[in-house]
Amino acid sequence: MPLVTTTDMFKKAYAGGYAIGAFNVNNMEIVQAITEAAGELNSPIILQVSAGARKYANHTYLVKLVEAALIENPQIPIALHLDHGADFDICKSCVDGGFTSVMIDASKYPFQENIEITKKVVEYAHDHGVVVEAELGKLAGIEDDVKVKAEDSSYTQPEEVEEFVDKTGVDSLAIAIGTSHGAYKFKPGTKPQLRFDILHEIEKKIPGFPIVLHGASSVPQEYVKIINENGGALKDAIGVPEDQLREAARSAVCKINIDSDLRLGLTAGVREVLSQHPDYFDPRQYLTVGRANVKAVVAHKIKDVLGSEGKAL
Ligand code: G3H
Ligand code: 13P
Ligand code: ZN
Repeated sequence: MPLVTTTDMFKKAYAGGYAIGAFNVNNMEIVQAITEAAGELNSPIILQVSAGARKYANHTYLVKLVEAALIENPQIPIALHLDHGADFDICKSCVDGGFTSVMIDASKYPFQENIEITKKVVEYAHDHGVVVEAELGKLAGIEDDVKVKAEDSSYTQPEEVEEFVDKTGVDSLAIAIGTSHGAYKFKPGTKPQLRFDILHEIEKKIPGFPIVLHGASSVPQEYVKIINENGGALKDAIGVPEDQLREAARSAVCKINIDSDLRLGLTAGVREVLSQHPDYFDPRQYLTVGRANVKAVVAHKIKDVLGSEGKAL
């Protein structure tokens, strides 16, 4: 089937109490790993591309890799999404360039400015049959080399969501309830806890509306260990506990964003193979193992965290 938007995916996910995984893609191995896992488990999936991914791999290469994945996995719905579009121009470029969904992330601007920027993107995207995600509240962490310090992050204010959704016409909303981007989400020694009270207040304000959770990697400690035992230095890398993500998936959260866990799986595989075989220099020897780890991460998320297994049927 051709690329789809997220409209139908989110409607079913909301009603069914599960979430769709949105996984970041940067190269062929990652596209293959995600879509093979989703294909085998009959799960709908969102492939998302950041500005950094477009800079690294080139828009056309990424779109064509995703088109290849559609041919290889014709039975599952796949959406192609722009992750953290910083302005109208990058959103327009992705709408014009074959994406079915874009995120306009104007969350760093004041509320009214966020509304204006988002509305402009929504009008253009909807005219072209593309759906739009926006963000209210600020996540801590790193995106495209922009670091938002924990003290500059802020939770989404539930009293703002209704006006934002009404005035912008946006299709889904990313909120800040304690997640952050990257592999260092919580201070060591503290108990990681998402603000489900804020999420539930938001749900009440905009019933039936799909919510998105960014920064939702769990930072699997087995991969952190392999990386550190094979020359890496990831000290105190901590993610979101998976039971909290499962709880989020059962709520109005219809899209859960995961990138760092894929990076950890890939890096652990590559580091392990190269330490064990210092004589290897064929990229296929180590990328095969890295890709298998990414596939295992995605399969685990679909089955044990998101609950989207079998939902493509
Ligand atoms: O939101 C952050 C995603 O992990 C994308 O990261 O901007 O380094 O590609 P990136
Ligand atoms: P992680 O860094 O937790 O994987 O978050 C990814 C993300 O939110 C992409 O938009
Ligand atoms: Zn994000």
